[in-house]
Amino acid sequence: MIEERYAPPTRRPAPVTAEPAREFRFTEADFDRVCRLIYRHAGIRLNANKESLVYSRLTRRLRALDLSSFARYLDRVEADAEEFQAFVNALTTNLTAFFRENHHFQKLSGFLENRRDRGELRIWSAAASTGEEAYSIAITAAQTYDRHDPPVRILATDVDTKVLETGQLGIYPLERVERLPLELKRGYFLRGKGARAGQVRVVDELRELIEFRPLNLLAEAWPGIGQYDAIFCRNVMIYFDKPTQLRLLERFVHHLKPGGLFFAGHSESFFRLPAGLKPLGKTSFEKSP
Ligand SMILES: C[S@@+](CC[C@H](N)C(=O)[O-])C[C@H]1O[C@@H](n2cnc3c(N)ncnc32)[C@H](O)[C@@H]1O
Repeated sequence: MIEERYAPPTRRPAPVTAEPAREFRFTEADFDRVCRLIYRHAGIRLNANKESLVYSRLTRRLRALDLSSFARYLDRVEADAEEFQAFVNALTTNLTAFFRENHHFQKLSGFLENRRDRGELRIWSAAASTGEEAYSIAITAAQTYDRHDPPVRILATDVDTKVLETGQLGIYPLERVERLPLELKRGYFLRGKGARAGQVRVVDELRELIEFRPLNLLAEAWPGIGQYDAIFCRNVMIYFDKPTQLRLLERFVHHLKPGGLFFAGHSESFFRLPAGLKPLGKTSFEKSP
């Protein structure tokens, strides 16, 4: 059924077979096959202008596997689950940052304050990438409750297993936290020394609040996904088509507690909202209490 919705690239790439400088032959048919596979699995639409990017990201796998053609590589991807995951990891876009779209965290702080009397709160970062979003949620909770062990559990999921490993470690290059206020850097990060110079690590208390786990938002079932006070699903829906976005929003509403918040990315505007979800402005939404 999903295959029926597959839209071929809007603009055809320039013929790539005659590209003399390339190490591997990458035909239009190979590129279409890549597009179909990633769309069917993760809902990610690749436009024709991504052809060179796809080539450069996947050639690393061809070299690692000592394969001489994309056709053989894609056969391998389809036959081998581990290689399929490496293929997915290579094609995702993982751009993220601590306190990206800070207004969401300000709203979250007020919301947590209002729910102080509700016991442990649960928050889901549903396209978590390397974890900066989940740690920003954890820091917001720690600041709101003024303790390093706030009564909050955070689930961080992503279809890309490689980024989750980074999130789990909680180790980042120093530049990633450079713009954060000194108070946050002092309170929630440790500076690396020796071999770890130039890196920071999130303090253990915050890391313990978060569980990192693989999850494909397009999967038929979401095992282990319960009810959440707030869900962040930011800057991933832009890769999905409109019907997929609406279906996902409906699923998210189902997993939000009454009065719970849903946060989308800054460029994500939805042509329709599911029943029970009302906009609060600035890509924040609330489930009807
Ligand atoms: C651009 S990052 C956004 C990270 C973070 N939410 C933020 O806004 O900073 C998008 C993430 O969505 C993930 N992603 C793409 N398709 C997905 C899918 N079908 N299921 C779960 N995650 C997906 C990618 O692996 C990537 O890490």
